[in-house]
Amino acid sequence: MGMRLSEGLDAAPGHIRAYDVRTGKRRWIFHTVPHPGEYGYKTWKDPEAWKRIGGANCWAGMSLDEQRGIVFAATGSATYDFWGGYRHGQNLFSDCVLALDANTGKRIWHYQTVHHDLWDRDLPAPPNLVTVLRKGKTVDAVVQVTKQGFVFVLDRLTGKPLFPVKEIRVPASALEGEQAWKTQPVPGLPEPFMRQQFTENDLNDLLPEFREELLPQFQALQSGNMWSPPSLQGIALFPGFDGGAEWGGAAFDPTSNWLYVNANEMPWIVKMVKNEPGQSVGQALYVANCANCHGLDRRGNGNAFPPLTDIGKKRTAAQIDEMLKSGKGTMPSYRHLPEAERKQLVGYLLNEKPAGPVKEMTAEERAFLPPYTMTGYNRFLTKDGYPAIKPPWGTLNAINLNTGKIEWKVPLGAFDALSRHGIPPTGTENYGGPVCTAGGLVFIGASKDEKFRAFDKKTGKILFETTLPAGGYATPAVYAVDGKQYVVIACGGGKMGTKSGDSYVAFVVE
Ligand code: HEC
Repeated sequence: MGMRLSEGLDAAPGHIRAYDVRTGKRRWIFHTVPHPGEYGYKTWKDPEAWKRIGGANCWAGMSLDEQRGIVFAATGSATYDFWGGYRHGQNLFSDCVLALDANTGKRIWHYQTVHHDLWDRDLPAPPNLVTVLRKGKTVDAVVQVTKQGFVFVLDRLTGKPLFPVKEIRVPASALEGEQAWKTQPVPGLPEPFMRQQFTENDLNDLLPEFREELLPQFQALQSGNMWSPPSLQGIALFPGFDGGAEWGGAAFDPTSNWLYVNANEMPWIVKMVKNEPGQSVGQALYVANCANCHGLDRRGNGNAFPPLTDIGKKRTAAQIDEMLKSGKGTMPSYRHLPEAERKQLVGYLLNEKPAGPVKEMTAEERAFLPPYTMTGYNRFLTKDGYPAIKPPWGTLNAINLNTGKIEWKVPLGAFDALSRHGIPPTGTENYGGPVCTAGGLVFIGASKDEKFRAFDKKTGKILFETTLPAGGYATPAVYAVDGKQYVVIACGGGKMGTKSGDSYVAFVVE
């Protein structure tokens, strides 16, 4: 079992656990932030880091090689996500593909895809177990798709890459206390399944006014290198927070050894600010726990995270406190904060003047407040909501895992408003993965236009397209009953500003 955690300094470590389903007893635990004496402990410079640092959790899922008894887990970044001054070092086992003995939890091998992550480059999907051809022989492998658009193809037994991977030099950080890792791994093959750079030439110029609007914003940011660390100036993060690949992951066709993966091509703006020493406890708690989502200015972020600027007109202190204790939707619970701290937080949200002088924070409270905070998860968009980069904005890709070459790439999704101007499909942001059938089809929902599509798995041609009752931001499942084949998708919607839904839609494959 993996888990979901906060991305702040309060996060628990993302240890992986196995339970006996009959007795409920825990069978083993694997420390993804290693304890003293354990393998990987020395990749943290601070010997006490294991007591304080969290994250490195497996939220994206695992794959099991039942025959060999090996479980493969993909882990995320260590926390705090955007400033690693309290976690100097390479930070094993964050951003790793982990091969664990399924019976004992013992590490067999690991492969780290980002060292000392400063960009929230969690591995976003479970590894695929595949068999590929190498030099005329079949090799059992594990494939990991990433937010950077990389595909790592690893030997299933040893974790060794089957294609060469280079450690390239990357820029240093200018933030005080940060020690960015000097190199990062980049696979030579397979070919990346998205663009790897966002330069001035790549600015969205579908309409001339787009470029005019975007250029000054772009020029104010650092850009052009996906490994530029977060900065006070701000970076145009590309590949972005939600991939490349995202939670739907990839599908594999064992008859051709082709891998199918959808990609986002969305730039994000990452800007750091220095935390003020004179702020109230409530504000400091807000900055440390809530600003990631609700924004440093409390204005929220589109439909995903509501604004809290006028929350006092909408909710009472008791209601807010209740919500902090329970969490709601994708908002985690803050029950672990002492009642006195929750009170300070609520007071800050309701713009109450702190009674008397501002209480100095204790050393412990300070320890959970990094010196820098990211101002929020912001997509880099035009005023009309189109990505700041030229299309394609979303694609479906077929990658030949024998050769590492991309066989085809097609846009995934379209905007009606642009199609009406005669602009060819641009692809849209997309969440949820593909499935591949023996009969020659790749099914996928995922696109912002709430469509469900079947592609020819050989050519990428669209063979079928229909509109769902709400966005299908999940991976479809294929099954058969009495010899009839079906494909079903969950239409939960509710992302990227599209409507929410609550239905499953199943189609007969004929
Ligand atoms: C991981 C992102 C995330 C974090 C971190 C987060 N929230 Fe939220 N918050 C949300 C989402 C999403 C909602 C909307 C939930 C829903 O209605 O389904 C929400 C809703 C709220 C609301 C209700 C807003 C309304 O209009 O009714 C309040 C109040 C709130 N959050 C306060 C906080 C506070 C205080 C913190 C920090 C202690 C915090 N949140 C941290 C995501 C987050």
